[in-house]
Amino acid sequence: MQKKTFTLIDNRTGKEVEYPIIEGTRGPAAVDFRNLFKDTGTFSYDPGYTSTASCNSTITFIDGAKGELRYRGIPIEILAKEHSYLETCFLLLNEHLPSISELHNFDLELRHRAFLHEGLRNLFNAFPDNAHPMATLSASVTALASFYQEHLDMNNETEYHEMAHRIIAKMPTLAAFAYRHSLGIPFIQPDIDLSFTKNFLTMMRAYPGGKMHLGPLGHEEIKEIEVRALDTIFTLHADHEQNASTTVVRNVASTGAHPYVAISSGIAALWGRAHGGANESVIAQLEMIGSVENVDAFIARAKDPNDDFRLMGFGHRVYKNFDPRAQVLKKLQDELKETLGLDSRLLDIAGRIEEIALNDEYFVSRHLYPNIDFYTGIILTALKIPKNMFTPVFVIGRTVGWITQWIEFKKDPSSKIARPRQLYLGD
Ligand code: SDX
Repeated sequence: MQKKTFTLIDNRTGKEVEYPIIEGTRGPAAVDFRNLFKDTGTFSYDPGYTSTASCNSTITFIDGAKGELRYRGIPIEILAKEHSYLETCFLLLNEHLPSISELHNFDLELRHRAFLHEGLRNLFNAFPDNAHPMATLSASVTALASFYQEHLDMNNETEYHEMAHRIIAKMPTLAAFAYRHSLGIPFIQPDIDLSFTKNFLTMMRAYPGGKMHLGPLGHEEIKEIEVRALDTIFTLHADHEQNASTTVVRNVASTGAHPYVAISSGIAALWGRAHGGANESVIAQLEMIGSVENVDAFIARAKDPNDDFRLMGFGHRVYKNFDPRAQVLKKLQDELKETLGLDSRLLDIAGRIEEIALNDEYFVSRHLYPNIDFYTGIILTALKIPKNMFTPVFVIGRTVGWITQWIEFKKDPSSKIARPRQLYLGD
């Protein structure tokens, strides 16, 4: 009978220790090293956690080699094509897609919870106009925590689902308010007659009184194709296993802090350009490159070990094949090219980068493919969403993933406070 264990031999002492292998339902197994230090006085060393499973989970599965992503077992391609973002939110939180009545009630609850306490509006005035909306968003979510109780009964599903619905519903409002504060224009309140995604676009674009932007011959209403495009983008961003910001959310959850400050910490972590901030950097980079003729020079810089220039929107810790979300976005980009009038200059530059990088030994040998951030920016630009709101859009999509991971952590009896050790090299 095959033993499902790892045997480690410390060649300094000849001591052998054996550790159980835990099989997953999909993907790699894990060696249970929890007693390694107790047994051997030695730490495992894995900066960046490239080979470390920090938890067990049933929420999202990624196969980096196959370019596979599943939420609760359902492939992302199916969810993006056949289901709405709200159905995906319900699926992540409840482990099954909603019935018609479940979706109706979920949608209704989110519409009613989209409003903010009036006291929160004053917070935005504390920020300068040029404050990045991610700074305002993170601060306002921390402030939101002070309006709601700290300790949740994790045996009371209604209570913690209400906490989850509230933050999912309010994030678009907070993001839209942060944007409008940066322009010094009046806030547009949520409209309970509008869907989650159309409501966000309206709060971003409408004139005071909720009137849409006056086009040359009348009102420029929000088009259904724009709503569908953004809804798909939210779905693609909903969750992504134990990425950097989700790891932060779980670590903050492990200290017992308020769930909304865990989300606020996730927002702060996502802002970095190596993570969710990459979508904004991609467009800035395409604009900096400026023309197809300049692409080769920038590719050379990306490959130069002495140049810290990196191709934003390329590479991924897990996907060593294509990012399935990028594949969905590329198809969406092609569909929207004519209807939304995507910026052909940026598209041409992006296309040239992709054409070179996918055939260049430097990128191929390092498995550097376009990731989700490479494509979102051009579509969001066509949706009249400015660059500094790209990562807040990522936040709106990801909030359901963060809060679902927070709930899973809090309900896991094996969860402990996150407290890694170190390899000390000092005096
Ligand atoms: C997201 O984790 C998630 O799931 C995140 C995310 C989610 O949904 O939550 O998917 C969202 O964050 C997507 C990634 C967005 N970031 C970017 O697009 C920024 C550019 N990409 C890189 O900075 C980088 O690829 C990372 C951060 C995404 C991954 O970094 P790793 O896994 O630590 O890889 P690495 O830095 O060790 O790079 C391996 C090699 C190095 O070269 P060598 O030292 O072997 O010679 O590849 C090179 C790197 O220099 N490399 C790049 C590169 N990315 C890696 N070279 C040029 N351009 C790049 N973009």
